Amino acid sequence: MSDNQVRSTLKSASEQAAATIAAMPAKPKIIACPLCGRQFLTHTELTAHYAAEHPDSVAPVTATLNVNGKNCELIFEPFMTLKQVLQYHLGLIGAKEMCDRGACGSCTVIMDGRPALSCNILASECEGKIIETVEGIAVIPKWKPLIDRYCYWDAMQCGYCTPGFLVTAKALLDHNPNPTEHEIKEALSGNICICGTQPRHSQAILEAVLIMSGHAVHGYTASEVDNG
Ligand code: FES
Ligand code: FES
Repeated sequence: MSDNQVRSTLKSASEQAAATIAAMPAKPKIIACPLCGRQFLTHTELTAHYAAEHPDSVAPVTATLNVNGKNCELIFEPFMTLKQVLQYHLGLIGAKEMCDRGACGSCTVIMDGRPALSCNILASECEGKIIETVEGIAVIPKWKPLIDRYCYWDAMQCGYCTPGFLVTAKALLDHNPNPTEHEIKEALSGNICICGTQPRHSQAILEAVLIMSGHAVHGYTASEVDNG
């Protein structure tokens, strides 16, 4: 990508992410019964409705998660994964579901500071957890160089795996702000790209680390990323 294309991609990604996070509901306004569509105002009413009308079915459950810095009270069917709840209840579509079996890393989010595969975790197990998604990372100025370098190096083709890589990279840099190439490759070993971008990720992350620590890369610095 040219520098101008990188700047405008970065700006629009960050604006879209901010709008998505702003739109996340802190609690559901109306709760529709997933089986018959009747609407209720509280989880208690819905549970009573299940007992009366759908006695053979398990009623939706509730959990409060801190997602991208916002406490969100959620009501969902007990079989739903964290990935599904993030997408269908909060509108967060950054984490992708490629394999749906914990093998590719495209659905990676950060849970309580560690990368976690959201396709493999039941949302009902996440009460009180602190979750970060790629949208939350995209709005924090500190991480602009990371996304910037991904764009610069075209470290995506179809882009389906990219959010998972970015989230994993952020989790690595939180704990190890100056990783070696080997440590980056090791951290990304659970993320798979079927389009063949794998070699570009470590290059993008290594350059992001340099920019974030105040160095210029190709004559380009963190303040230029900020002003982009
Ligand atoms: S979709 Fe979750 S690991 Fe592949
Ligand atoms: S860019 Fe297509 S799967 Fe990685």
